Amino acid sequence: MSTIKLIGPFRQLLPMTRLPLKGPISDDQLIILEDAGILVEKGKIKSVGRFDTLKADHTNAELHELKGDHTCLPGFVDSHTHICFGGSRSNDYAMRNGGKTYLEIAKAGGGIWDTVTQTRKATEAELVKKTIKRAKQHLKNGTTTIEVKSGYGLSVVEELKMLRAIKMADGQLPVDLIPTCLAAHMLPKDFMGNEVEYLEYIANELFPILKEEDLTNRIDAFIEESAFTKSQITSYFQKAKSLGFDITVHADQFSTGGSKVAVEFGAISADHLEASTQTEINLLANSDVISTALPGASLGLGCNFTPARKILDAGGALAIASDHNPGSAPMGDLLTQAAVLGSFEKLSNSEVLAGITFRAAAALKLQDRGQLSEGFLADFILFHTDDYKEILYNQGSFKPCVVFKNGEIVFDKHK
Ligand code: NIG
Ligand code: FE
Repeated sequence: MSTIKLIGPFRQLLPMTRLPLKGPISDDQLIILEDAGILVEKGKIKSVGRFDTLKADHTNAELHELKGDHTCLPGFVDSHTHICFGGSRSNDYAMRNGGKTYLEIAKAGGGIWDTVTQTRKATEAELVKKTIKRAKQHLKNGTTTIEVKSGYGLSVVEELKMLRAIKMADGQLPVDLIPTCLAAHMLPKDFMGNEVEYLEYIANELFPILKEEDLTNRIDAFIEESAFTKSQITSYFQKAKSLGFDITVHADQFSTGGSKVAVEFGAISADHLEASTQTEINLLANSDVISTALPGASLGLGCNFTPARKILDAGGALAIASDHNPGSAPMGDLLTQAAVLGSFEKLSNSEVLAGITFRAAAALKLQDRGQLSEGFLADFILFHTDDYKEILYNQGSFKPCVVFKNGEIVFDKHK
């Protein structure tokens, strides 16, 4: 017989259920359960309700009774990161803040290509180690699902090394890593050919191996003047779709165009959107594409935030992710970034929390997480407070005290 566990009581539990996928959410719409408990069986939620009632009804359950005030939320979902990389770009950061331009930084050996060089130098085992270390830090901060992109390999061999490292790291961690192939990050400087030839080479030689080795079912591309244009990416995305891959796009970061490609290809998400105007915002809002804000990139680059308020007001679905990467978003603290975005963009508590829970899960097409109700994964996090509003009010400096993944404690501040 399998063990049933009862965890609680929680002064407040936010199940994040019965909230819309798209558009604004007011805090009045939040369901707040008081003195609640969660019944867990085989890593999944069997029931959520009043702790005392669950206790009386399930006398066979193993009890995890908590003392003191706790508020319980779904584990966070970070739907966009690049945490598999070698080296550091602290030089880029110092130069950028010292007033150097993108071109000057690239000429001095910085930019994405610097990380490609450092990542290529690392062995697969070294990348596994680095990815695990970063993922553990995210897990400690309450993130129980992390998307991780390749894109610093930029050849068949090197992209495979990255994706195999991500898969290996996933197997060694309680947190779920969701891999994405970002071979279309930039034209590698050592490729003998143009953008179209590079993309053909990747599609022909890498895509079949991704399937064979089950390394990812997601294909991403950076659509930007400095990376790939709409016309260059079209046949690449067509091939990806014909093989059954899901599409996601780095869109409208510095110039517009990517969001239109995302909508036309039925991408799961369009991420960045700092440069989106009302035209792109409406286009996304009228589609099924999830719009993902990456406030960590705005903070890292010192530029404007994604127009999150306008996206929601237009009826869009807004996810918020960390974009944790060595170049534009080195901080990698999702809760801090989401709270700051909320403050600058005037997002309600529920809109921010939705953006890092069930709306972020939708950005990864995952229907089994981001909410706390029967049948969902028992991924939840506890904060030492009797009022959930304290969490965003502290702008990320207030961290979870306990993290549960699949019903097991994977981080406990007191231990
Ligand atoms: O999401 N925009 C393109 N790619 C990354 C940055 C990668 C890097 O600078 O290393 C991003 O911000
Ligand atoms: Fe990114």
